[in-house]
Amino acid sequence: MSDPHTRAALTYGSYLKLDELLSLQRPRSDSAEHDEMLFIVIHQVYELWFKELLHEFDRVQRLLEDDEPYRGQHTLKRILTILKVMVAQLDILETMTPLEFLGFRERLEAASGFQSDQFRQIEFLLGRKSEQAIRRFPDGSRARRALEHRYGQPTLWDAFLRYLSREGYAVPESQLRRDVIASIEPSPDIQQILIEVYRRDTKNAELCERLVDLDEGLQEWRYRHVKMVERTIGAKSGTGGSSGAAYLRETIGSPIFPDLWEIRAQL
Ligand code: HEM
Repeated sequence: MSDPHTRAALTYGSYLKLDELLSLQRPRSDSAEHDEMLFIVIHQVYELWFKELLHEFDRVQRLLEDDEPYRGQHTLKRILTILKVMVAQLDILETMTPLEFLGFRERLEAASGFQSDQFRQIEFLLGRKSEQAIRRFPDGSRARRALEHRYGQPTLWDAFLRYLSREGYAVPESQLRRDVIASIEPSPDIQQILIEVYRRDTKNAELCERLVDLDEGLQEWRYRHVKMVERTIGAKSGTGGSSGAAYLRETIGSPIFPDLWEIRAQL
């Protein structure tokens, strides 16, 4: 144990590891391109938010498993607030013009947000799993281990269905034991249950609405990201090797929780 008399007093800087944190922004352009600093800072900030989101999503899932819907909703509210901040932050990057970005774009080589393992982890926990996404990371790396772990875990939707079943809803066994790796497909049985929830069960209907908020919030981020990409690089291909905005447009509009959208026409 450290001696309290010799130990340096905790300060703001030592608690937050500010010396380390502030040494991590290192532009690659020699004759420092002014906007590269912004580009680095904003991506690092996003990665920190992704980290916090993963932390909060794990909590929501645990709270649902422990039959704590109100606390689960409360945590979802926090997640949604973070998502709103993340969408709003894109405004800052949009102050960078196409020419300012071109000033350092080639220094990025093949690096791209496409390689963000934390973004993929969020997709995995929401039900968009892909072995190919795991294989992009070197064997034994932090990123690969994290993705491999999440790949076999139940998704947030699985936790929600199991919670509904414990609340007394007749969720079919096939859904409760569904392959957690498979994508979440619309199910008429689940839709019937959700309609019942919306009509008769305010507590759980509210929880459903927060999941819809989450789904919409992520689609909003994707939409704003693609618009930013269009205004910054137009139809050019991405540094990550995709067709760029054309690829990103394909990822917009497919919901995470399809049943929650399907039922709206029947309510
Ligand atoms: C000037 C700013 C930006 C441009 C031009 C840009 C461009 C692109 C492009 C073209 C892609 C498609 C993959 C590729 O071929 O590279 C992509 C994917 C992606 N970007 Fe960005 N991006 C920018 C800022 C950001 C920021 C600030 C984030 C925050 C983390 C981000 C996160 C992502 C993610 C997560 C993907 C993967 C999306 C998916 O596969 O569904 N990007 N970006």
